[in-house]
Amino acid sequence: MKKIRVGVIGVGRGRSAAAGAGPHLGMELVALCDTWEEKLLQVGEEFGVATYTDFDKFLEHDMDAVILANYFHQHAPFAVRALNAGKHVMSETSACLTLAEGVELIRTVERTGLTYMFAENYPFMVFNQEMRRRYLAGDIGSFMYGEAEYVHPMDSNRHARLSPGVNHWRNWIPATYYCTHALGPIMYVTDTWPTKVNGFVVPNREDDPVHQLSVRQNDAASMIALRMDDGSVVKLLQVYLRGHGVWVRIHGSRGAMENLRHGERDHLYFRQENYHEDAEPVDEIYAPDFPEYAEEAATAGHGGGDFFTNVHFANAIRSGEPPYLDVYRGVAMSIIGPLAYRSALDDSNTIDVPDFRTEAARVQYEDDHWSPDPTAHKEGDPLPSILGKREIPDKALDDAREIWRENGYQGD
Ligand SMILES: NC(=O)c1ccc[n+]([C@@H]2O[C@H](COP(=O)([O-])OP(=O)(O)OC[C@H]3O[C@@H](n4cnc5c(N)ncnc54)[C@H](O)[C@@H]3O)[C@@H](O)[C@H]2O)c1
Repeated sequence: MKKIRVGVIGVGRGRSAAAGAGPHLGMELVALCDTWEEKLLQVGEEFGVATYTDFDKFLEHDMDAVILANYFHQHAPFAVRALNAGKHVMSETSACLTLAEGVELIRTVERTGLTYMFAENYPFMVFNQEMRRRYLAGDIGSFMYGEAEYVHPMDSNRHARLSPGVNHWRNWIPATYYCTHALGPIMYVTDTWPTKVNGFVVPNREDDPVHQLSVRQNDAASMIALRMDDGSVVKLLQVYLRGHGVWVRIHGSRGAMENLRHGERDHLYFRQENYHEDAEPVDEIYAPDFPEYAEEAATAGHGGGDFFTNVHFANAIRSGEPPYLDVYRGVAMSIIGPLAYRSALDDSNTIDVPDFRTEAARVQYEDDHWSPDPTAHKEGDPLPSILGKREIPDKALDDAREIWRENGYQGD
């Protein structure tokens, strides 16, 4: 089996993909790229591979595929450059920041004929894979309603460590944008696509000590309501509310299933009333198994999800068949972020979700560069918060700068 030679850009989160791109999957890590030279050299030494601070030079390295773990809001332009350089691409979330970027990304994948995979790892957590298996087996009938939550609060020091600089994306992406950890599992379990969206943004509270000590410009959280292409309804909840949890619930016409919210959170709760069936009601909690690679996935990050993204990427490259999380699904999930924010800024009114599998829809959005990036703000662009610009408290900025300096970040 010919090895797939892989390069990774971004040595924070990218370390996980780098560690997983091993011979057990027929992959070989050959190069790393990061502008933060000190971290890059450290990780490069750890893996014993070539290092680059310049992405174009990195793309000249003799390799087949690139994994993008650079900044959240810059994946699409980097994916386009890598595809144009003849590399297969796996991209961290989000696939694109704007709708125009989504259109360009899809067109580039189609034109180059290369593999693109969206590295949304949450669908591959053990309970989500089990829910997909049971849904496809018909165990809960037709999909009616789903809920998914990615609630990830953290203290201000940890946030500052993860987000060096006032303009780091974690300090300004609007609260609807990090939506694929919740939407990904729902689309994966039920094979549905979003068609309409209503976004609701949850502002911070002044009596939240984390907020007082934070340099974040964005709001606390968002709730997103979706209509899906089979008529079902979905609710997503994400980001910094208190009460950490990752949770998915799927209701069908004959039953419901969800992972547990407490205790063994990767266990599945399955319920079937069986009112009119010739069967006893079912009410069970059990530990599901991975359908494949159980041993390898057991120790991988994010409940095994990090292992399966690499598996599916390698399989797609080798077979030439697009992965399940292909560019269409990746972009469809990612554009819910900006569309839900647009809705939230318009009194949460309903917005149609374009289907970029058709060129007719793409043409309408190919110039839609509406972006919340404060470093490239232009007239008509949104601010990171629905409440407008926030004055960052002096103490929050001083504390954050101290942490950034301790970690070797000298910027503002
Ligand atoms: N799927 C998951 O579970 C998961 C978990 C954490 C992070 N992520 C995603 O991974 C990505 C990276 O997140 P992170 O936590 O590592 O933090 P991060 O965004 O701060 O790290 C990005 C890294 O890329 C480097 N970088 C940025 N621009 C570059 C450029 N032009 N050239 C070379 N290097 C560049 C930065 O120096 C940094 O080391 C984000 O998109 C995030 O959403 C996903």
